[in-house]
Amino acid sequence: MRRDHTMSPLKVDLFDTRTPQQPLRAELRAAIDRVLDGGRYILGPEVAAFEEEFASFCGAEHGIGVANGTEAITIALRAMGVGPGDEVVVPSFSFYASAEAIPPTGAIPVFCDIDPQTFCVTAETVRAALTSRTKAVIAVHLFGNLAPIAEIEALGVPVLEDAAQAAGSLSTPGRPGGLGTAATWSFFPSKNLGGFGDGGAITTSDAELAERVRMLRFHGSHDKVTYEHVGYNSRLDELQAAVLRVQLPHVDRWADGRRAAAEHYAAAGLGDLVDLPRATDGSRPAWHLYVIRSPRIEALAVRLGEAGIGHKAYYRRPIHRQPAMVCELHLPGTDEAARTHLAIPMSPVLDRPQADAVVAALRG
Ligand SMILES: Cc1ncc(COP(=O)(O)O)c(C=O)c1O
Repeated sequence: MRRDHTMSPLKVDLFDTRTPQQPLRAELRAAIDRVLDGGRYILGPEVAAFEEEFASFCGAEHGIGVANGTEAITIALRAMGVGPGDEVVVPSFSFYASAEAIPPTGAIPVFCDIDPQTFCVTAETVRAALTSRTKAVIAVHLFGNLAPIAEIEALGVPVLEDAAQAAGSLSTPGRPGGLGTAATWSFFPSKNLGGFGDGGAITTSDAELAERVRMLRFHGSHDKVTYEHVGYNSRLDELQAAVLRVQLPHVDRWADGRRAAAEHYAAAGLGDLVDLPRATDGSRPAWHLYVIRSPRIEALAVRLGEAGIGHKAYYRRPIHRQPAMVCELHLPGTDEAARTHLAIPMSPVLDRPQADAVVAALRG
């Protein structure tokens, strides 16, 4: 963008979902028309095609669309055999839903710590939370950074990837969604792959687990005649699937844009002012959120606000300190990240002038 001194300072939003979607408008309208013309709105051809396309994108054998990313976790855990009396290890530094989805299975959330530099769990932080009752670990790929799934699995416990924030992220062993026993996804509109409403999915390469998920999302039934489990009405809508199918082929390009935006920040000198998020070993995150840390974060947030730069502290109060989940625990990495983090603008189209504007505002 060409700018001169007569222009007012550049304001930058926290997200930009509209600009990347703009060139797809005609295709999106055609996809919606296709659903209206077909007259199938629940579990029709669009969901079936998206499930296949999305599973193949993740490098998993099976994809099952569900209503949202929260129910995806509950259903996946139940399909993994989690139930009353079990414990599920989950990081406290995550979106509340990562833990909220556990009690509906009958199991208890056990909170573990994170590495504040990567915002992800590690094998060490998970090991500290394991007991003889641990049935599964939820490893959250927070902000698009990838948790070390193989190292956690090596502890001998099944891992569910909470991949809600990680579409488009890459790693040496493969993509999220195909790394653990199963993975859950959210297609909330602001996500790297977002619909025009709520939506979610579960991916797995375990055929029996996939079959249990399919039943659970549909009232515990194969055929709507015999009901074998108490399940859920939790389905991805045809309209959302149609919209997601248009966007899926662009996710990798958008992820490249997000990685380029992180490079713009680095080139603009952001690392001299604050701590930058560190990619976990072997991963190339599609930064869903770009989250910096500083001991002076509140003052920096004020500067950004004054300059018209979008920013947000996502998890200032970690889950184990939320009223519904409160418990006495010493999680120093979590507390440090909670106290010092701040998301700054990130999108597939964030360019160098925008990165310069953010860094200039932080400099004050
Ligand atoms: C890490 C994480 N887990 C779970 C969820 C829940 O997804 P949803 O909002 O689709 O229920 C979200 C997103 O909102 C999330 O960011």
